[in-house]
Amino acid sequence: MSTTTQTLDEAKLQKFMGRFVDDLGAALSAALVVIGDKLGLYRAMGDGEPVTPHELASHTGTDARYVREWLSNQAAGGYVSYADDRFWLTPEQSLALAQEGSPAFVPGAFQLATSLIKDEETITRAFQTGTGVGWHEHHHDLFAGTERFFRPGYAANLVSSWIPALEGAQSKLEAGALVADVGCGHGASTILMAQAFPRSEFVGFDYHEASIEHARQAAAEAGVDGRVSFEVAPAKQYPGESYDLVAMFDCLHDMGDPVGAAAHVRQTLGQDGTWLIVEPYAGDRLEDNLNPVGRIYYGGSTLVCTPASRAQEVGLALGAQAGEARLHAVVAEGGFTRFRRAAETPFNLVLEARP
Ligand SMILES: C[S@@+](CC[C@H](N)C(=O)[O-])C[C@H]1O[C@@H](n2cnc3c(N)ncnc32)[C@H](O)[C@@H]1O
Repeated sequence: MSTTTQTLDEAKLQKFMGRFVDDLGAALSAALVVIGDKLGLYRAMGDGEPVTPHELASHTGTDARYVREWLSNQAAGGYVSYADDRFWLTPEQSLALAQEGSPAFVPGAFQLATSLIKDEETITRAFQTGTGVGWHEHHHDLFAGTERFFRPGYAANLVSSWIPALEGAQSKLEAGALVADVGCGHGASTILMAQAFPRSEFVGFDYHEASIEHARQAAAEAGVDGRVSFEVAPAKQYPGESYDLVAMFDCLHDMGDPVGAAAHVRQTLGQDGTWLIVEPYAGDRLEDNLNPVGRIYYGGSTLVCTPASRAQEVGLALGAQAGEARLHAVVAEGGFTRFRRAAETPFNLVLEARP
């Protein structure tokens, strides 16, 4: 008997294999969530009425045999409910899967995750060469998936909790302020702020041209395009001055030179301005982040954030789990003297920096 066999703990192995079965089921089901979302299968079930696979297929213009298989996977995973050859969504399943705009809506997260699986070969090569992979080089589902993943959290917190938690920012926004949303992506946060503060003016900046085009369209659809504009610009070079508020949502750690970006924010901010930095929730030590949320973020960080930073000048690669202390150091190096945690959620650190 080898030493390994003697020390092998059967119960621990079984526990690990149980974990593996859960993970493999989740990994295979990720594409099925995206299929259900893209083809409107969840939306067609959103009213909670029990349906047969044939009924769902005919409502959605899809093939009944495929739909039966899909429904069976979904029922096995607890994403839909099943009895007597009929499938339905409970109110909770409907909120999470069928109702885009609800704070619990999750398909965007799977759209993001499956886009990254498509990029696995590129990232594998990056491990070998050490070169970066820019945000813009990813599959387009990453851009849409990121917006759809983050928007529910912004809709639930940004206007109601995060802005009120900043010193004096809310009253300025109510009276009429100038705001830059840097690294704005598809502009979900910019548009939410513009809707809430009609006297203020908002400019969204991002270096990624396709995201800026999408943001412009979204602003027009939301009817806020008169007070919101979007421009292609990197964080170290966006135009304008005397901003009352500069916001960065989940992007500082993606930048190659976050210290340079911080210095540019400092230069463009009004004397009494505020820099709002929303970053993934993280503790300062690796041990603090060895949990389910940390697992998600380290995954995204390995596949997107670290390569994105590496693709830009300096290539500091903070990673998505940089933590408050590291972020504070970056902000201070950029010339800010005041820094505090203004709020938090299980997914976000909400940080406030002042000159
Ligand atoms: C994870 S996404 C977040 C997008 C958006 N803020 C949101 O919360 O939905 C990161 C964004 O940062 C942008 N970005 C990365 N590096 C940048 C840089 N140096 N200057 C401007 N934008 C940058 C990317 O193009 C991308 O849109």
